[in-house]
Amino acid sequence: MTRGLWVTLEGGDGSGKTTQATLLEEWLRERGRSVVRTREPGGTDVGVLIRDIVLHHRGDIAPRAEALLYAADRAHHVATLVRPALERGEVVIQDRYLDSSVAYQGAGRVLDGGEVRDLSLWGTEGALPDVTVLLDLDPAAARRRLDAADKPFDRL
Ligand SMILES: Nc1ncnc2c1ncn2[C@@H]1O[C@H](COP(=O)(O)OP(=O)(O)O)[C@@H](O)[C@H]1O
Ligand SMILES: [Mg+2]
Repeated sequence: MTRGLWVTLEGGDGSGKTTQATLLEEWLRERGRSVVRTREPGGTDVGVLIRDIVLHHRGDIAPRAEALLYAADRAHHVATLVRPALERGEVVIQDRYLDSSVAYQGAGRVLDGGEVRDLSLWGTEGALPDVTVLLDLDPAAARRRLDAADKPFDRL
């Protein structure tokens, strides 16, 4: 995409995405860059509603319906927030993108990861970040960090 820089952070809960995003944001702001911090799901007003369904709905959501909800959040987020920021030349630092869907809706469940990825790419007209940082932390270590910080696991 044009002009700005789009960085996404991936990794399990407790792997350090928020911590690293904050450090990167500070580092860029000290150098005079405009930074937009955002996340999926839930980076927009519509996304907040979708986030509530996918993270807090009690009971099952059919796997294809869940994949579509994430893809819908992503489509709206890229169209209304990410692309405009990049076109203004800003840096977008984003917590989770389609790799999370491939992992959680694809590899982790019954759907095919390639189909999940294609669904997102359709929704976003093929938008891909300039840089993706994967924080590949052992889940047991992540769990210990979350326990130490009193942070619960969510539905993911
Ligand atoms: N490099 C690190 N070493 C030890 N603890 C860390 C490190 N990075 C983050 N943490 C702690 O681990 C917990 C989860 O970090 P966080 O950045 O919130 O992860 P995420 O956003 O991926 O869930 C927080 O309590 C944070 O202070
Ligand atoms: Mg976080």
